[in-house]
Amino acid sequence: MKRKFSSSKGESKNAAKEHSGWWGDGPVFVFLYDKRKKEAITNGKAKEILQFVNDSEQVLHESEALRIIRINNEYSHPVLFVDTGKETGLNLLDHLRMAGYRLAKWAENNSVKTLMIPPLKGDSPKKRNAILQGLCHASYAFDKYKSKKHEKADVEYLFADDMEIDGNSLQSLFSGIDIAKNLINEPGCSLTPATVANIAKGIAEKYGLSIKIRGENELKRDNYNGILTVGRGSKNKPAMVTISYATKHKKNIRMALVGKGITFDTGGISLKTQDKMYEMKSDMSGAAIVLAAIQVIAELKLPIAVDAILCLAENRPGENAVLPGDIFKAKNGKSIMVENTDAEGRLVLIDGLAEAAELGATHIIDIATLTGAIQRALGNSIGGLFSNSEGLAITITESGDECGEKWWRMPLDEEYSEGLKDKVADIRNIADGGPGAITAALFLKEFVKKDLQWAHLDIAGVAFTANGYKYTEHGATAFGLKTIVETVKRYSADELR
Ligand code: BES
Ligand code: ZN
Ligand code: ZN
Repeated sequence: MKRKFSSSKGESKNAAKEHSGWWGDGPVFVFLYDKRKKEAITNGKAKEILQFVNDSEQVLHESEALRIIRINNEYSHPVLFVDTGKETGLNLLDHLRMAGYRLAKWAENNSVKTLMIPPLKGDSPKKRNAILQGLCHASYAFDKYKSKKHEKADVEYLFADDMEIDGNSLQSLFSGIDIAKNLINEPGCSLTPATVANIAKGIAEKYGLSIKIRGENELKRDNYNGILTVGRGSKNKPAMVTISYATKHKKNIRMALVGKGITFDTGGISLKTQDKMYEMKSDMSGAAIVLAAIQVIAELKLPIAVDAILCLAENRPGENAVLPGDIFKAKNGKSIMVENTDAEGRLVLIDGLAEAAELGATHIIDIATLTGAIQRALGNSIGGLFSNSEGLAITITESGDECGEKWWRMPLDEEYSEGLKDKVADIRNIADGGPGAITAALFLKEFVKKDLQWAHLDIAGVAFTANGYKYTEHGATAFGLKTIVETVKRYSADELR
């Protein structure tokens, strides 16, 4: 589906007159309403139109949250009613995304090319953007391994006035989302640390970003022993990729984005069980997201310096694999006992955190499919947020709210750090019992300099959906990418002030 969105002052009437027959070639008019609240979302003669909503004789089609009703308006024209209140617990922007998504899917299935959307009540670019995001989400399909490809329709949304729409920003964001999803959905055999590094190189070249790729030798030279330790069991060698986006603006802030990039997590010698293990192809979601984020940030030319650091390794058992009980020394000199080789994410991330500090980061956001415990605590709709900074935590939460990505701030209570103490080494990689997502975050905290503003996003519960979630079908959600881009945007606004 090509993504087209346009505004058209005064075209609405003409378009209606051109409309022929059933769906015809002309636009189908859309009316958004909240069925439960009995409230119109779009402007127009709300009351008159709403009375048809409950009049079943007029209903020509009903599915999901869509009803199509022929009303006796001037043109005897079908109107598409979209219930924007079908789901509970979503905010209006997310309801609008769902509406945009459903509309696009419906239009695609019914070969409707153009949907005419009247102005919304209390309209704003943000609201329109949300509808358009739904359209963009609907156009994604991971069909490269299907012999029959998804036929992408060419759906266009027409807004019946000339309110400014920032189509370029939207295109940039969604080209990032598509890239992240494609990487995450790719099976483990065809996406190794080296493949990701190569793709990153291509992106860096395209956007004129500087890039540093550390392979095994460079990791050894620079003491990045966490990534090396995790990657030891696989013939697909580990790597760390650092991409830097510079800006000519004054630099009070340097933001580092650190992503967990386990291209497949078997658990290693502490092998996982077979149940849903295939989903561990998505254990590099964090790395995919920070890579996509820096592309979007560079494309939008945000006035803030950003580094994306991808911590890449494949975690699998092998002749040379790290054994439970093995001890290695982290870059900062602390010795770490690997009690469980399946708690590998935190081991690769501490190298990324060290790299961020070396580059002079003032703010660090790491993002990782880190713990099953966060999934048990927050489920598949809410991501876990940990931070040592009130300001950063608030900015991330508010950014997420705007983007349809919910974050819940979790405690970083030092009392639980006790469990990480080891009898032989300085620290071990899992705590006995206790709250797993919190102890994982506390482990990371041990490797973050106190004066840095740092946030850790645990997306283990939200990165991958088996049966579809909101406007995402089976597979990668890229959850967190929108939040990160929005967060960097908000810091950019501060930077320019
Ligand atoms: N990649 C997993 C976490 C995960 C679980 C991601 C479910 C997505 C869905 C991580 O490396 C892991 O295996 N964590 C262990 C840690 C444990 C051994 C302390 C876990 O959560 O079980
Ligand atoms: Zn693991
Ligand atoms: Zn993992």
